[in-house]
Amino acid sequence: MGWEWLLRARGSSGGRVSWGWGQGAIHGFRETEIAQWSEESREILQRVRDEAFPPGMSQLSLVHVLDLDKSGYIKPHIDSVKFCGCTIAGLSLLSSSVMRLVSEQNPEDWMDLLLPRRSLYILRGPARYEFTHEILKDEESFFDGQKIPRERRISVICRNLPILPAPT
Ligand code: OGA
Ligand code: MN
Repeated sequence: MGWEWLLRARGSSGGRVSWGWGQGAIHGFRETEIAQWSEESREILQRVRDEAFPPGMSQLSLVHVLDLDKSGYIKPHIDSVKFCGCTIAGLSLLSSSVMRLVSEQNPEDWMDLLLPRRSLYILRGPARYEFTHEILKDEESFFDGQKIPRERRISVICRNLPILPAPT
């Protein structure tokens, strides 16, 4: 089954779940959430989850798949604290890319992360809550002065659930 088949076109306003990107934070993309994975993929996702989440942490069972085309990019945002917990784990497939983290408090405090294709990143702690993250567009995709060409990129993202406030 190809990705073309799996990924429904979905605009940024038509979704069921919003991860906290304001309107139009992602450009040139399709996305879906997948509950059923092949045996092979399940093994890989389990490795991601084991790496990212401590045992017993309640995780979202749906895995978010985001398919950015070559000219697609993600503007700075912080994932919704209402829908998403303290940890975001993302596999980058097909294309390398550059993720930029910028401090909300002090925008001069920023760093670029090289996300090679087939790598895993984990955002937690201040990187999750105090810094925006973004995926640079092809024209801006440089790391250490070196061009990191952006091709079509598919990311597979696991998140955990926010801890709900205790009922009063
Ligand atoms: C998101 C996001 C990053 C990625 O979907 O909220 O920031 O690696 N994705 O695709
Ligand atoms: Mn995000």
